[in-house]
Amino acid sequence: MAHRTVVQQDPISVARRRCLVQLAALPLLGAGFEGIAATLPLPKRRVPVSGEQLPVIGLGSTKAVMQLGEPGAADALAAVLRALRAAGGTVVDTWSRDPALDIKTGEVFQRDGLLDDLFIATKIDTDGREAGIAQLEANERAFGRASDLVQIFSLRDADIHWPTLVARKAEGKTRYIGVTVSSDSDHPAIMAFMRRERPDFIQVNYSVVETAAESGVLPMAADLGVAVIVNRPFTNGEYFQRVRDRALPDWASAAGIKSWAQFSLTYVLANPAITCVLTETTNPAHLADNLVAAFLPSPDDELRRQMRDYIRQMG
Ligand SMILES: NC(=O)c1ccc[n+]([C@@H]2O[C@H](COP(=O)([O-])OP(=O)(O)OC[C@H]3O[C@@H](n4cnc5c(N)ncnc54)[C@H](OP(=O)(O)O)[C@@H]3O)[C@@H](O)[C@H]2O)c1
Repeated sequence: MAHRTVVQQDPISVARRRCLVQLAALPLLGAGFEGIAATLPLPKRRVPVSGEQLPVIGLGSTKAVMQLGEPGAADALAAVLRALRAAGGTVVDTWSRDPALDIKTGEVFQRDGLLDDLFIATKIDTDGREAGIAQLEANERAFGRASDLVQIFSLRDADIHWPTLVARKAEGKTRYIGVTVSSDSDHPAIMAFMRRERPDFIQVNYSVVETAAESGVLPMAADLGVAVIVNRPFTNGEYFQRVRDRALPDWASAAGIKSWAQFSLTYVLANPAITCVLTETTNPAHLADNLVAAFLPSPDDELRRQMRDYIRQMG
């Protein structure tokens, strides 16, 4: 009697593959996510302090917001936010700049019910207690509601602002509080802060180029139960200059990686201490490329070492 091997198809794998195909096709089709039902929403990770699950890819809005004075820029930001939402993404990082830009940002957030669906992370970026409170309150008025996470930008005047944030959380005015850094030289300071204050979230620079966080900040965050948002996954675009004109190595393609953006993002997401990685983009096709990384197999330690070494030898 002939034997036949029956391969059971894991329904999650099938759905994931279908979703990957859809996401990967979007830039080629010139399409957004509107009208295309993502078969499987973005994977999520747990915020230790609450158990809330957050999608692993978020949006850094700096460039898009700084351009808001230009014609068409508000529509462009709204398009990227709608694309993020359509894929099941929610996390958007921003901060108070000048009041006019905050109002324009708030107008975009209030389009199409976006504000109800997004997880907004904002920041205090000023000196002095009263100025910090005024900045937060102006931010709330401009956006139309309190942000979900309030962070202190690059630990600026952190000892003064932290009691304000602790009090606002106790009063139910904000859900989560945290601090940010974006440079390796600030890692000792954010580690000291984490040890002392146990913030709900930290934000830190981390990528296949900037790997320092994995030897100090990330293990400490995991030990203390602090959620981690990653900034600079592409070193603010410098990474793409470095890999320009280079084809992806065959071993990366064999791992399912289809772009240099996915190369850095899969590296970042392989670290279990990471809750969410922000990718800053004004381009829906780039967002689609970045979202694919959330569905790729996680590289193991050996592959991650190979990825790091490959980028380092480029100089
Ligand atoms: N101290 C702090 O709190 C702090 C400091 C720095 C950053 N941040 C946060 O982190 C966010 C992200 O970090 P970052 O500002 O350093 O930016 P990044 O995400 O490392 O790099 C952004 C650059 O990458 C390009 N890009 C994005 N996706 C791409 C893709 N798939 N293919 C090709 N190019 C792509 C973007 O250009 P396109 O627009 O053309 O896609 C942009 O020029 C910021 O927006 C901000 O929210 C916080």
